[in-house]
Amino acid sequence: MTKSGATLESRTDTPLTTSVKSTSAEKETVSGAGLIMSLIPATIAERAEQYVKIHSAKIDKRLGWGQDGWVFATDTGSAIKVFKYEKQYRQELQVYLRLTEREVTVVHGFQIPSLINHHDELLIVEISLVAPPFVLDFATASLDQDTLRTRDDYEEWLELKKEIFGTDWPVVRRVLSAFRSHGVFLVDVHRDNIRFR
Ligand SMILES: Nc1ncnc2c1ncn2[C@@H]1O[C@H](COP(=O)(O)OP(=O)(O)OP(=O)(O)O)[C@@H](O)[C@H]1O
Ligand SMILES: [Mg+2]
Repeated sequence: MTKSGATLESRTDTPLTTSVKSTSAEKETVSGAGLIMSLIPATIAERAEQYVKIHSAKIDKRLGWGQDGWVFATDTGSAIKVFKYEKQYRQELQVYLRLTEREVTVVHGFQIPSLINHHDELLIVEISLVAPPFVLDFATASLDQDTLRTRDDYEEWLELKKEIFGTDWPVVRRVLSAFRSHGVFLVDVHRDNIRFR
């Protein structure tokens, strides 16, 4: 899946007070959690707050966002990813369930978040916090189906990824191969999702 625009690139370093542009028509609001949740799309903020309330937790800070949703750290030391759409939520959950079943927590030294909990109505997965090196973001990964390598533009995709990762590319190839061995085919391969440092 291609990114829908520069404003939706994952960012972790933006001050919480910075206005966030959204390509959707979601309205923005200042919610009960105050500054942290200000300028976050209303439906995302409300769902995040409902979720942490259920678990007697609080939102600590925003960790990042991308085309699939918003990610927050909680005060219980976990991360919650609040999805915009059900399709991506289901996809990411399926992958986390597979990784849980196979007990995959580290791949070639890269940490993989563990699934802690999830909520089908609020479209939230709760996962463990990770620090680089890590691999995350399985919202567009396919399960048991190599949709990428059968694509007409696979060679171009490969060239682009080689360019993005440079001398790190051989390691990325090993990581992708290890995921494939568990039936997980990563597609959204970039430096924010496969973080080296
Ligand atoms: N478990 C976690 N621990 C630490 N940081 C995290 C965690 N989950 C997400 N993040 C941070 O939030 C960012 C966005 O998360 P993620 O990549 O899952 O969102 P996305 O919307 O699917 O992004 P993309 O634009 O790549 O599709 C990550 O790049 C990372 O910096
Ligand atoms: Mg991402």
